[in-house]
Amino acid sequence: MDIGFAIVTASDTRGLTEDEAGAALGSLIAEAGWRVVEHVVVPDDVRAIGDAIVHAADEAGANIILTCGGTGLSLRDVTPEATRAVCDREVPGIAEAIRAYSMTKTRRAMLSRAICMQRGPVLVINFPGSTKAARESWEGCADQLEHAMKMTAGGGH
Ligand code: MTE
Repeated sequence: MDIGFAIVTASDTRGLTEDEAGAALGSLIAEAGWRVVEHVVVPDDVRAIGDAIVHAADEAGANIILTCGGTGLSLRDVTPEATRAVCDREVPGIAEAIRAYSMTKTRRAMLSRAICMQRGPVLVINFPGSTKAARESWEGCADQLEHAMKMTAGGGH
């Protein structure tokens, strides 16, 4: 199944060329046989992150948007708030599954406030920002993404 991904990295310090976590996600997406339709780095700012999610969903044609970073407890970490501001419905199970899997890797996973939501038919999943955390978060959900997209498109089981 063809799935188009957007990667939206939130960082005040990194640019696109330094976005190692985003690049790692791009490789994992390609290895799974899917496409990256957009990859951007934006500042840790609710408006900037929200605008990037809206652009990826409504203009770039992403089916799934992976945000990377800005999920922690620093007051600069606002990616969940930005996600909530531009999405309609929570998909709590995906965030729960990622956190449960991540807790088997590090108990620091409890410090991520990452959420998962839908903007219309587009799935938006928050990943933490380190390359290790992004990879592990992918491992925690990737096997269910194709079924998620089939269900979104109205398919049964
Ligand atoms: N999840 C996984 N799978 N692996 C990790 O190493 N790091 C945690 C957590 N989630 C981690 C993880 C840490 S240390 C932090 S502070 C939070 O993610 C938030 O990270 P962020 O602010 O980069 O989004």
